[in-house]
Amino acid sequence: MKNTTNEIRKKFLQFFQNKGHTILPSSSLIPKNDSTLLFTNAGMNQFKDFFLNPKKKKYSRVTTSQRCLRTGGKHNDLENVGYTERHHTFFEMLGNFSFNDYFKKEAIIYAWELLTSEKWFNIDKNKLWISVYQNDEETYEIWLNIIKVSPKHIIKIGDKNNCKYNSENFWQMGETGPCGPCTEIFYNYDIKKNHDFSKFLENKNEYFIEIWNIVFIEYNRVSSKKIIPLKYKSIDTGMGLERIASVLQNVKSNYKIDIFKKLIEKISYFSKTTNLNNISLKIISDHIRSCIFLIYENVIPSNEYRGYILRRIIRRMLRHAYKIGIKKNFFYKIVPYFVENISENFNFLKGKEKKIKEILKIEEMQFSETLEKGLKILNIEIKKASNQEISGNTIFYLYDTFGFPVDLTLDICREKGIKVDLNSYYLEKEKQKKRSNIGSKFYKNCNQIININDTCNFEGYKKNTIKALIKHIYINKKSVSSISEGEKGIIFLDKTCFYPESGGQIGDIGKLHYKSSCFIVENTKKYGNTIGHIGKVIIGKFEINNFLYTKINKFYRNQIQINHSATHLLHAALRQVLGNIVTQKGSLITNVRLRFDFSYPNIIRLSDIQKIENIVNEEICKNNLIKVQYCSLEEAKKTKAMALFENKYDAIVRVISIKKFSIELCGGTHTSRTGNIGLFKIIEQSSVSSGIKRIEAITSSQAINFLHIKENEIENISTALKTKSINFKEKINKLITQVKSLETQVNIFQEKENTYQVQKIINNIENIKGVKLLINIFNNYNHKSLRFMIDKLKKDFQNIIIIFINKNNNHYNIITGVTKNLTNYLTALEIIKIFIKHTNGKGGGKKEIAEGGSFNIINLSKILKIIKLWVTLKLENKKNHVRE
Ligand code: ALA
Repeated sequence: MKNTTNEIRKKFLQFFQNKGHTILPSSSLIPKNDSTLLFTNAGMNQFKDFFLNPKKKKYSRVTTSQRCLRTGGKHNDLENVGYTERHHTFFEMLGNFSFNDYFKKEAIIYAWELLTSEKWFNIDKNKLWISVYQNDEETYEIWLNIIKVSPKHIIKIGDKNNCKYNSENFWQMGETGPCGPCTEIFYNYDIKKNHDFSKFLENKNEYFIEIWNIVFIEYNRVSSKKIIPLKYKSIDTGMGLERIASVLQNVKSNYKIDIFKKLIEKISYFSKTTNLNNISLKIISDHIRSCIFLIYENVIPSNEYRGYILRRIIRRMLRHAYKIGIKKNFFYKIVPYFVENISENFNFLKGKEKKIKEILKIEEMQFSETLEKGLKILNIEIKKASNQEISGNTIFYLYDTFGFPVDLTLDICREKGIKVDLNSYYLEKEKQKKRSNIGSKFYKNCNQIININDTCNFEGYKKNTIKALIKHIYINKKSVSSISEGEKGIIFLDKTCFYPESGGQIGDIGKLHYKSSCFIVENTKKYGNTIGHIGKVIIGKFEINNFLYTKINKFYRNQIQINHSATHLLHAALRQVLGNIVTQKGSLITNVRLRFDFSYPNIIRLSDIQKIENIVNEEICKNNLIKVQYCSLEEAKKTKAMALFENKYDAIVRVISIKKFSIELCGGTHTSRTGNIGLFKIIEQSSVSSGIKRIEAITSSQAINFLHIKENEIENISTALKTKSINFKEKINKLITQVKSLETQVNIFQEKENTYQVQKIINNIENIKGVKLLINIFNNYNHKSLRFMIDKLKKDFQNIIIIFINKNNNHYNIITGVTKNLTNYLTALEIIKIFIKHTNGKGGGKKEIAEGGSFNIINLSKILKIIKLWVTLKLENKKNHVRE
């Protein structure tokens, strides 16, 4: 094939290399040191500093092919993917950059040469059209007079809504950052039609596709309202590799270029569709690329931040797989195919397939369990939606219970032309957030928003007490100079040995004291880079710039340390027993227990739990040293240290190792030897959300106490059963058999009793208009027996209305039965309704049997009379009806 995607990429880079550019590798999809961006969204991201401060630049001209992701943030194409022929979440952007070197003229000349020269891309000039920013006369002139593009092929595009720089032809990286006017080059697929280019915005996706954007970086946006000129001018360009490939391969759609064609064919092989134009196939082929590259970059599906974007992509992909009849896990099967056959330019993926496969498989398994159920519910709601709108409650329910990301629900509703009430969804979400915060003791003190631009040295790894200087005091979120007896507040020091709540470990407690003054620390938290000691002065007074002594509660801290080290042992044991698919999702380590959340899709059996406990306890018995080391992140990765690598770590990390059994990056405090843990016992195993399991465990004296409680329980049962625990099983089985036999006997007696009762009450049967009517009042009678009696009477008499009232203290229960032959004239439910009406009661049922109840009956006989009268009238009608 001519012009394969790989060849195009090479040619582009080579062209600019010939023009004095250095070819640099793509940077990571996760922007380094740039909190303004979720993902790399353009080639220029890695050069942000070079644009802002060319003194920092290492090159004047560079060229790259950059991996980009456009989901979330300013540039978000997720919703368009699959519905247009050219949008992607993941794509490669070819670009050339000049930092305070060449500017408009050269950039445009280079672009034109590469696109149109026979030696390079050789595109017919007549098929190219240009847009420029409204006031950018200089660029207009270059196109017109130097490049000699016909004025009919150039359009000026201004600002939208009279808002300066809000234009298709003014490019901005994000909410802040380098920006400037741009000129875009379009390719017209349908040259035969005489298109009116002034309407090109309307036709953009159909005929005119944007292939290249040349940005003249002249400004820096510092806030939504402020934009400042830069000292130096630079060039940033971006050409979507997949788009230019569609032009050069003459296929009109990105999804038909060589690399997508192969991928779509492979995916269709698992599906029930043979139509390679199917939207779902396109969506899956796009999304799988994003997943592979994101997981490669250590992003793991989760409920927040980047992990949530990945989760949304996977779930959207899964729903489309479902739509085209793929019901078994399959994404992970595409991974090796992609790495083997499509990723020539991404050799770094080789050898990483296993990890990518595992993570995709787990997420897929987790979500497939709930996808079907959630879809059913959504479809029912869509059918019910009389106003063609789905409520915020439903969207929230799907999100909360079935893990449906909101955009998945939106996607489905969009396909079906249903509106969604997003505002109430957000309200519902907010409410839930509040609910889950209420009562959580760990958040008790953290609602105080305090911004302190200071640091505090944590020296508590080795010391329990130190002398420190008071830097700030806060009372009720306000900075004060002193805090006196009886007052509650937060004290900030220059250094401390109090561990602030973080990494799952709760904050320390203890006291701050000086001479006779004492402040009780009830909790310790991080506030930016500093540490707040939250508590109350019980004696004396503390003032800023005075010294004091910090003293943590050693016993409390010891227990926490023991539980923290036990958590590391548990983590390692979980991976030994359940496999490496166990990934930490969260933890809570307190002085009384530890909680560990992790992803694991299958059921955890009791035998697994026992194995895990055994392994942890064996490690405890070995009494191994718990070693703390500092090393570079790279070195730590080499030791295969466990970490949440999606987290940001410093260049130097702290590694906690227990021989080779457990190596983890961790900032928490630990006990010195495993033996200190004493005993480890899992007390609870549950599922937190789909695919996320939770284990709660206790250690040392807590574990012993727990065993004592269990022992006491056994003792109590033993006394009650009058046998030793060893005989429990036998004894209980014996009791079950006895109970069953007694139940059978009781049933026999009850039946006899019921038959006897029926015999007794049939004397009360009246004859009304040729139909039998039986009204009877019982006192505290067995409900099941009453139902049985009604069935029996109906069977025996075939033409009967039965009304039973069962009085239970001040509650009246009514059960009515009507034989089928009469239900055309009156029904059991109608009788109940009359009862409800006159007694303010409740009830319901069917034509032949119905029930109700009420606490408000003053005159029962009057109500029964009313019912009887109504029945008589109805039967009267029946008679007339029969006569007629
Ligand atoms: N940074 C420019 C874009 O992404 C070239 O379109």
